[in-house]
Order: sequence, then C-alpha cells, then structure tokens
Amino acid sequence: MKTRKTVLQIHAMKEQQEKIAVLTAYDYPFAKLMDNVGIDMILVGDSVGSVFSGYDNTLPVTMDEMIYHTRAVVRGSEQALIVCDMPFMSYQADIRDARINAGRLVKEAGAQAVKLEGGEHMFETIKAIVEIDIPVVAHIGLTPQSVHRMGGFKVQGRQEDQASKILADAKAVEQAGAFAVVLEGIPRDLAKQVTESISIPTIGIGAGVECDGQVLVIHDILGLCDKYSPKFVKRYADISSTISDGIETYIKEVKESAFPTIDHSFK
Ligand code: KIV
Repeated sequence: MKTRKTVLQIHAMKEQQEKIAVLTAYDYPFAKLMDNVGIDMILVGDSVGSVFSGYDNTLPVTMDEMIYHTRAVVRGSEQALIVCDMPFMSYQADIRDARINAGRLVKEAGAQAVKLEGGEHMFETIKAIVEIDIPVVAHIGLTPQSVHRMGGFKVQGRQEDQASKILADAKAVEQAGAFAVVLEGIPRDLAKQVTESISIPTIGIGAGVECDGQVLVIHDILGLCDKYSPKFVKRYADISSTISDGIETYIKEVKESAFPTIDHSFK
C-alpha cells in the first residue's frame, strides 16, 4: 500500500530544488496510468469543461461535476497528491460558500487540497479556507475563469504595471496561506522573479522553465484535443491516431464478420 504525497512533501521539493511534475486527470484510467509512473500531483482541473465536456471555456463546470470526476481520480491513484479545482462561482460570491464548497471537495470527493483563481482580491477567501485546514493552491496570471475580463486567453504580465500586479498577487496568496501557486501564461522572466520572491512552490503552465514545477492538461500532451493547442503545450504522444486506427479496424471486422472469432465466443 503506497502513501500519498503530502503538502509538506510538495513544499520540501522547492527547498530541495526537486522539480514538481503535475498533470490534470478527470477519470480513473488516466489517474491510474500517471500515478503508476510517479506523477507528484494530480490536478482535477476545471479544464474538464473544455477537454472532456466540450464547452468553449471552464465557466459552465459545476460543483457536482468536479466531485464526480475527483472521486474517479482518487479511486485511480494511490501516491499522488490530489488537488481539485473550485469551479466558477463556487467561491467568488462569499467566503461562507467558499468554505462549504472547499469542504465538499475534500469530504465528498476525497481531494487533499483545492485550487482557486485570483491573487490579492482572493486573500480573505484563501485565508478562510486555510483556517479550516484545507490546503489551497492559488492560480494567478492568465486565469481562465476571467476569460471575459481578459478578452480571451491572453498572456498576462507583459506590461510593467501588470507584471507588478502579478508579483503582488503572488506575495498576497503566499501570505494568505496558499501552499503552492500556479503561474499561467506569463513571461518566463516574470515567472522566475515570482519564483525567487516567494517561499511556496510555483507550478508553471506557459510560464517558462524557472518555475518550481510544471503542469499541463493530459489531453493536450497526448494529442487527444483537436481544438487549438497553445504554444506552451508539448505533445508527448499522439494517441488520437492510435484510438482511431483501433476503432476503424473494429468497424471493418464487424462489417466483414471477422469479429468475433471462435476465440471470442462461448460454446
Ligand atoms: O483547469 C486546469 O486544468 C488548470 C490548469 C490549466 C492549471 O487550472
């Protein structure tokens, strides 16, 4: 029986300069595959809305959906730390809601930590969740739940005032008690500056190599997403064509009565 990584171990990885490898997962088989090969942390991201449910963005994702997917990921994994995204409007309206919903993700879904988007303006919310002993990962820079304010999924922090704001956001979430922070879609130099300015691990996505760890969406790295693929994604495999080939062969064999054979039939 393996034991799961803890937030303390993730924290120690920064001190020991060991990079933190994070991927998203939304179901049992993918969680099992990545857990078996030693992923440090699994994020049940609200990107489930885009890559699994086919929405244009993450905004429609509900608490019940996050709980459903997280339960499957928890069942499929043994050693990774499981972080669950708080979906849009599960924490923004008031702090009481935020605490109740963070609690549901731990109690009903089995996550060890929650992630929410926002910097300085989320200070009180992060603090309130941490106070009830639920570890929080913050998420700053390009925050997908702010897609309408940002006018699309655009790199943030290129202008000096934006860069200073991101640095202030990072310091605020650290002070509020977040145990790690995702830096998404910001220039590499800014991510380096943030990483050197705070004591909690930075997990980058489109933020360069100087972050303490990296996170990517599993569907993107395996070539399972036919939608637009951002510049920061590296494709490590192309399983779409493997899946299509398998399904095509199945269809052909059914049509030609080549499947099932005697080996696949009962006497
Ligand atoms: O929802 C998600 O998958 C995320 C990552 C992109 C960081 O928040």
